[in-house]
Amino acid sequence: MNEQKLPRHVAIIMDGNGRWAKQHMLKVAMGHRAGVEALRSIIRESSDLGIEALSLFAFSTENWRRSETEVAALMQLLLEYFSSEIDELDENNVRIRILGEKEGLPSPQREALYRAEERTKDNTGLNLCIAINYGGRQELVRAARILAEKVRAGEMAPEDIDEQALSDCLYTGGLPDVDLLIRTSGEMRLSGFLLYQCAYAEFEFPETLWPDFTLEDYHRALEVFASRDRRFGGRK
Ligand code: IPE
Ligand code: IPE
Ligand code: MG
Repeated sequence: MNEQKLPRHVAIIMDGNGRWAKQHMLKVAMGHRAGVEALRSIIRESSDLGIEALSLFAFSTENWRRSETEVAALMQLLLEYFSSEIDELDENNVRIRILGEKEGLPSPQREALYRAEERTKDNTGLNLCIAINYGGRQELVRAARILAEKVRAGEMAPEDIDEQALSDCLYTGGLPDVDLLIRTSGEMRLSGFLLYQCAYAEFEFPETLWPDFTLEDYHRALEVFASRDRRFGGRK
C-alpha cells in the first residue's frame, strides 16, 4: 500500500447489524455481537498500518429510541467488550478515547469507559476513539458552551475563537480531521457522526453489512482512498 496516501484518521459508521441478524434469522443482539467480532481485525490492522486515529460509531444519542431489550443488549456488550479487549489493546500501545456523554450512561458502563481511558492515556500508538452516547450536534453545542465559559471566565476574548479553538473543544481535540469516512450497509448519510471533523473527508459507502466487513473490504476502502484526488478547494 502507498504509505504516503494512508489516511491519518479513519472514521467508521458500523451499520447493518440489525439487517445481518434478520438475514441469519437471529435476534438483533446477535447481530451486534457479530459486529464486535468484525471489529477486532479492523482495529489490529489500523494499529499495524500506523494509522493515527480510528473513530468508531458504536452508539448514538438517538439510539436510545430503540427497544429496551436492544439497548440493554448493547450496554451489556459494551461492558463485555472492554473487559475482554482492554489487556490486548493496552499491550498494543492503543490509546482509548471515548467520544460522547459518558455521564448519560449507566454507572457500570461509565466506570468501565473511564477506566479504559485512564489506563491507556499514556499510550502512543493508535488513537482508538469509540463514540458512545455521541451526537454530532451535541458535540458542537458542548464545544460552544466550553468556549462561552472560557470567555466568561476572562480566559479568552470572543475574537480569539477560531477554527483551532473550536476544534480543540471537540471530543477529538488534538487529533487530525477525518480523512476517510466509511459507512457500511449501503446507507449514505452521516447520522451526525463527526460533523465538524468530516468537513473534507472522503466518503465511502460499501454495501457490506458491518458483521460481514472483512480486512479485504478494509484494504479495498484504503486503496480507493489512495486513488482519490483531494483538492481542498484548490486547483492543481
Ligand atoms: C449499527 O447497526 C449498530 C448500532 C446502531 C448500534 P444497526 O443496528 O443500525 O443495523 P441496521 O441498520 O438495523 O441494519
Ligand atoms: C448510526 O447508525 C449509529 C451507529 C452506527 C452507532 P443508525 O443505524 O442508528 O443510523 P440511522 O438511524 O439509520 O440514521
Ligand atoms: Mg442502522
